[in-house]
Amino acid sequence: MKLQQLLAAVCCLAAALILKTKAQENAMLQIPPSLVECYNTSYFMNRDNRLPANMDTLISLIEKVENSYAASSGVQADIRTVSVALLHRFRQDGIKKAAGINVADGVIPYSPTGFQFPKLKILLSRLIPGNANTFPNSSLTRVERCSLHFMLSSTFDTRTRGDENNVCNQLSQYRAQRLPRSLKKEHENNFISASEWLEARSKRGRSSDSVSKYEQLGELDYESDWAYAGPETSQCPVEDGLVRTRWGTISGGTLIAGIAAGVQQQTVQLNTLLTLASQRRARGRSQSQTSNTIDNRWAATLAGELAEVTLVQLPVSNGNPASVGATGGWNDTVLPHWYFLSQRNNLEATDAEIRGGLDGLILAKNVASWRTQAPSLKLSQLLRMYYSTNGVLSSGINACSRQNQFTNVAPSQEMEDQTNAFALILDREMQLRVTLQPSLISQFAGNATASLVTYVPQSLNDVSCMATSNLDLTDAITPMTNLYLFLDTSWQYSTIVDYIAYVIQQLNIHPYASTITMLSAQDGSIIVNTTNYITDVYQQWNATTQATYTQGFNLPNVLRTIQNLTQYLMNEEKTNSSLSGHSLVALIIPNQQTINDGDSSYATTEIQYIQEQIPDLRFIYYGGGSIQRFSSFVRDPTQDLFSLTLGSTPATSAGPVAKRIVQIPRRVINPRCGSTWYTNSWGTDQTAQYVGPGKVNFYRVSSNYFFGAGANRYLTIQSQNGGTYTICTSRTYAWPQQNSTTLSTTNSIDQSCTQISGNSFSYDLSNACEGYYTITQCPDLYLSVQATSNTTSCIQDACQTPDQWRYIMSMVNMGCYSGVSGIAASLLIIVFAILALRLI
Ligand SMILES: *[C@@H]1O[C@H](CO)[C@@H](O)[C@H](O)[C@H]1NC(C)=O
Ligand SMILES: *[C@@H]1O[C@H](CO)[C@@H](O)[C@H](O)[C@H]1NC(C)=O
Ligand SMILES: *[C@@H]1O[C@H](CO)[C@@H](O)[C@H](O)[C@H]1NC(C)=O
Ligand SMILES: *[C@@H]1O[C@H](CO)[C@@H](O)[C@H](O)[C@H]1NC(C)=O
Ligand SMILES: *[C@@H]1O[C@H](CO)[C@@H](O)[C@H](O)[C@H]1NC(C)=O
Ligand SMILES: *[C@@H]1O[C@H](CO)[C@@H](O)[C@H](O)[C@H]1NC(C)=O
Ligand SMILES: *[C@@H]1O[C@H](CO)[C@@H](O)[C@H](O)[C@H]1NC(C)=O
Ligand SMILES: *[C@@H]1O[C@H](CO)[C@@H](O)[C@H](O)[C@H]1NC(C)=O
Ligand SMILES: *[C@@H]1O[C@H](CO)[C@@H](O)[C@H](O)[C@H]1NC(C)=O
Ligand SMILES: *[C@@H]1O[C@H](CO)[C@@H](O)[C@H](O)[C@H]1NC(C)=O
Repeated sequence: MKLQQLLAAVCCLAAALILKTKAQENAMLQIPPSLVECYNTSYFMNRDNRLPANMDTLISLIEKVENSYAASSGVQADIRTVSVALLHRFRQDGIKKAAGINVADGVIPYSPTGFQFPKLKILLSRLIPGNANTFPNSSLTRVERCSLHFMLSSTFDTRTRGDENNVCNQLSQYRAQRLPRSLKKEHENNFISASEWLEARSKRGRSSDSVSKYEQLGELDYESDWAYAGPETSQCPVEDGLVRTRWGTISGGTLIAGIAAGVQQQTVQLNTLLTLASQRRARGRSQSQTSNTIDNRWAATLAGELAEVTLVQLPVSNGNPASVGATGGWNDTVLPHWYFLSQRNNLEATDAEIRGGLDGLILAKNVASWRTQAPSLKLSQLLRMYYSTNGVLSSGINACSRQNQFTNVAPSQEMEDQTNAFALILDREMQLRVTLQPSLISQFAGNATASLVTYVPQSLNDVSCMATSNLDLTDAITPMTNLYLFLDTSWQYSTIVDYIAYVIQQLNIHPYASTITMLSAQDGSIIVNTTNYITDVYQQWNATTQATYTQGFNLPNVLRTIQNLTQYLMNEEKTNSSLSGHSLVALIIPNQQTINDGDSSYATTEIQYIQEQIPDLRFIYYGGGSIQRFSSFVRDPTQDLFSLTLGSTPATSAGPVAKRIVQIPRRVINPRCGSTWYTNSWGTDQTAQYVGPGKVNFYRVSSNYFFGAGANRYLTIQSQNGGTYTICTSRTYAWPQQNSTTLSTTNSIDQSCTQISGNSFSYDLSNACEGYYTITQCPDLYLSVQATSNTTSCIQDACQTPDQWRYIMSMVNMGCYSGVSGIAASLLIIVFAILALRLI
């Protein structure tokens, strides 16, 4: 009976284990079926075909996933669901190409044979349980799915590429090669993947390699069966699984794993894990382990990386100190695709992995308390706050302060204990070249920890918070724009892409924020249709698609198109009763072409008409040749014209363009006017707006909405949830603001500021154009809103972060006045205006 019970229990356990493993596809020894689509074509092996690996891309993709979860289930996807699903769906570490094996039917020459894989296997199957069963796969395109996979999955491509002479020298600025180059292939490290191990063993019966024996063999002919690194290793291998941020490149999978562990924290007895491990592959080691526990937040982050140093590097280091950190660099920082390491040995804990591990640990240890402050915190919001100068909620914790957080979240003793404990588990799951005594593992864990404790403060070369703190007005603005970008496709795609991408990356193209529409400057045809996702631009605009558009620049067509599109927008806003709250910008990117006289005089007339019909539209030219040739087509030639000179860096050339666009105030409209500037109804229209801590929202109300006199005509701002705000207004200065740096230099700014707290603010526009005879003479109303208290309770979908304040902006009894619409304006005023003009 007892035996039967025991057997039953064992069966149950075995069944449970099998079931568990089945659900965790990415922990299996093959590329899982869901990721095959990224490897059964050579397309994604060219990194240029993946989405640029930066934080904005990652946040965009996560937003797509979050919105899709929300749409299908009706409830907001919480941080735990999304972070755990992302890991289980997309992360598989250590995928390497099998050298010398070609694609064949049914053979994909890739498999997770790298040393990073066993750690991931333990994490997915034991420490961060979960699955991706309900993951909304179709919410992402194949390019997006595969780009996520490559951003979240750590591996190295160590094969020689042929560009080393060129590329590797450029990296030398980072750090001199730490190890001598030798023609002979050195053994890379102490890891031998399971399949390789079997192969080597069957061929040579090398079952009990000692270090020195192995090295001897290596001297002889080991090269030939180092099937997974190729005959020659690149001097500067490519690292994958990375995401570039302003504050250093991080390992994406480690970051997300840290967050997932933080929201699903587990502390597991070491012995429990050892038992599980030895059931799977009994190696008959002593089980006399300590009563240590493993904290999944550590295993997923720094302890995991250090355990790899402990097992893979130190046993074969010949007594050299543990080497942690490996610098590297992208060969393009606007569209980061290729990250080259400046060394090819000791890659068990690269700089990016250390940063990702540290960021992951900081987030893991704090996320529980942040979630109590902001219960509906989303993953995209957490990342957006952490990778910003503001930091998460009001904790002041952000990526640029990671080095200061290091000692708080990673006390040396705790780090050493966790590294030691996890290394003991990892040792069971990893096929090393040597067999280690547990006591030696402990010593190596101590050595690895000690190295990291000195490396982080001394050698992690990160941009400091000081260097990125608010320096000018642009940094205080949250961009909200409807951008129409007209491109002369005679520009060669590869020479122009970085400049354009740089501009649009600064514009907050996200759901509930900015939109972009990209069009041909020759005939106005759509290159990228209006979108809130910058990833759509990356996917739909490329060298191939650009070549399908007619080259050239036709200003009349551009004007006709922008007029049509913006009138369509105004009519949509009428339908939605939306005050807009977005600036309206046409960014025109001509090449060398000049404007002939006919087009020029047509354009001059047309622009006058546009300025009356679409008063909030701003034209900006960023082009080749003499940019002054466009000076009669913009409102302010000193501010709206920018030269595009190839060869200058994107930041120098495109930075000022982005700044100019960001500073254009958001429009506030009377939606009742539509594009015809006619309304026969009066009343209140309102739109919710959001302002983050330390940010200022600037608005402009065009005098077209209040030129004539009207009774009870107001713009109001109503505080929500007791928020307190400073509101500044001006009729002359576009950026009225309390305590602005611009203020201190210009003394005579005509502005007035008011504080409101839980109540509302009104600006009377009933007779605001009294004394002006034409609409253009009557100045617009400029207005700014900034919050003066903290909150964590922004729960609307539109909140980009939970620390934004929500307020309601209303337009009450506004009118519609346009120089071209006789019906709209009160007839009397028109007559007066015309009379007045004649008199002047
Ligand atoms: C690659 O895999 C995907 C998904 O499994 C499949 O749709 C596609 O047809 C495959 N392509 C090739 C070339 O086998
Ligand atoms: C998405 O794909 C994963 C991996 O193939 C699968 O486990 C999951 O069930 C899919 N999601 C849905 C909703 O079908
Ligand atoms: C590793 O740690 C041991 C014990 O703490 C110490 O004796 C040894 O010197 C360390 N090795 C190195 C290379 O730092
Ligand atoms: C970056 O390097 C890769 C590999 O050499 C190359 O294919 C790619 O064109 C480079 N990108 C840039 C922008 O130089
Ligand atoms: C662009 O999007 C709009 C609205 O989403 C749609 O009406 C229009 O047909 C689209 N145009 C093209 C060319 O896809
Ligand atoms: C360019 O984009 C199109 C459409 O998105 C895609 O089909 C094509 O493969 C892309 N071409 C390259 C070279 O990336
Ligand atoms: C914009 O152009 C389309 C197609 O030419 C036309 O159908 C539409 O009426 C135009 N919209 C406006 C507001 O003029
Ligand atoms: C109008 O509302 C629809 C549906 O809510 C939305 O898709 C669209 O983007 C809105 N348009 C504008 C201009 O706000
Ligand atoms: C803005 O306020 C800060 C502190 O609140 C103060 O140090 C600074 O001098 C002020 N700047 C201006 C221009 O008033
Ligand atoms: C918000 O909170 C932080 C930290 O709690 C504090 O330093 C800051 O002054 C607060 N800001 C406001 C506007 O109250």
